[in-house]
Amino acid sequence: MHYLVTGGAGYVGSHTVRALLQHGHTATILDNFSTGHRWATQGQVVLDVDLRNPSALRDALRGLEIDGIFHFAAKSLVGESAKTPVTYYQNNVTGTANLLEVALENGWHRVVFSSTAAIYGNPLTDRITENHPKVPINVYGQTKLTVENMLKATCEASPMAAVSLRYFNAAGAAEDASLGEVHDPETHLIPTALKAASGAGQPLTIFGDDYPTPDGTCVRDYIHVQDLADAHLRAMNALEQQRLEGPQFDAFNLGNGVGFSVKEVFAACEDIVGQSIPYRLGQRREGDPARLVADASRAREELGWQPRHSEIEMIVATAWAWEQKHRSA
Ligand code: UFG
Repeated sequence: MHYLVTGGAGYVGSHTVRALLQHGHTATILDNFSTGHRWATQGQVVLDVDLRNPSALRDALRGLEIDGIFHFAAKSLVGESAKTPVTYYQNNVTGTANLLEVALENGWHRVVFSSTAAIYGNPLTDRITENHPKVPINVYGQTKLTVENMLKATCEASPMAAVSLRYFNAAGAAEDASLGEVHDPETHLIPTALKAASGAGQPLTIFGDDYPTPDGTCVRDYIHVQDLADAHLRAMNALEQQRLEGPQFDAFNLGNGVGFSVKEVFAACEDIVGQSIPYRLGQRREGDPARLVADASRAREELGWQPRHSEIEMIVATAWAWEQKHRSA
């Protein structure tokens, strides 16, 4: 099969391309390289196109034979989204509208969409199911929820069929350290802690220790990027087999179902690195819910998905191997 992968030069996108290649498929990567990396494109065809430019998009995709679309391209930082909401709506919502329009014109009817736990907002239950109320508390989550609504309506009004995958905290790197996470600036917990460990970054700031959690720091559900990639292939396969029940739009949470606090993740980082890591305690970061943990049983049951890297030490170990290799490159 040949797939279009928007944002295929980014973190989760590039790991999904890698999984596609391992399964004998190929990809056309569409990326504007605002945050993606050329080195992550793995010899696939690359279209350097911005989804916000519909005529460039239409021209670039004309005549391609595409069996399905994995749509990752988006802005994805909660803090940044509060400062530049128009940019977030333009990239995430308008960009997707342009993509769907061209997809329909070309008769491409399968979409796997990269969504997020941020659409749920403050959790009302210990573990979040797909039916949990969706009241995002940040602009990033609002844009992803808007796209989900647009996809659902499009699936009802056309032959399109889509699966939305709601990630909890994507983390880790390819087991052979061939790919990994590189953001500039880096804001995510594990790479920031590991950068501090390698001396390449500032000491880690722990954002708040007065949350209503056992040790006062935020609890998150960390899911390995290769497990996320695997879920994308399974979701596309489900669309191809047309074996999802009900309407042609479905959504699945992707997480391990186990929460780790910032302090626990930090301790795992120190264990893996084998030394203490410089850190300080800071204020809460705006827009951070105290606890976000998935109930991902639907993905397990309906997609046959089984995360293979559920230990936090294993997740951190792959991120550390990548950090060392990337720093020395
Ligand atoms: N944290 C720190 N210090 C840091 C960075 C993070 O204490 O330097 C804390 C955060 O406050 C949070 C936890 O570590 O409690 C995880 O933070 P990340 O920035 O790694 O991840 P987020 O939980 O903020 O965000 C991730 C995705 C978002 C998505 C969100 C949904 O990156 O795209 O999960 O849960 F919206």
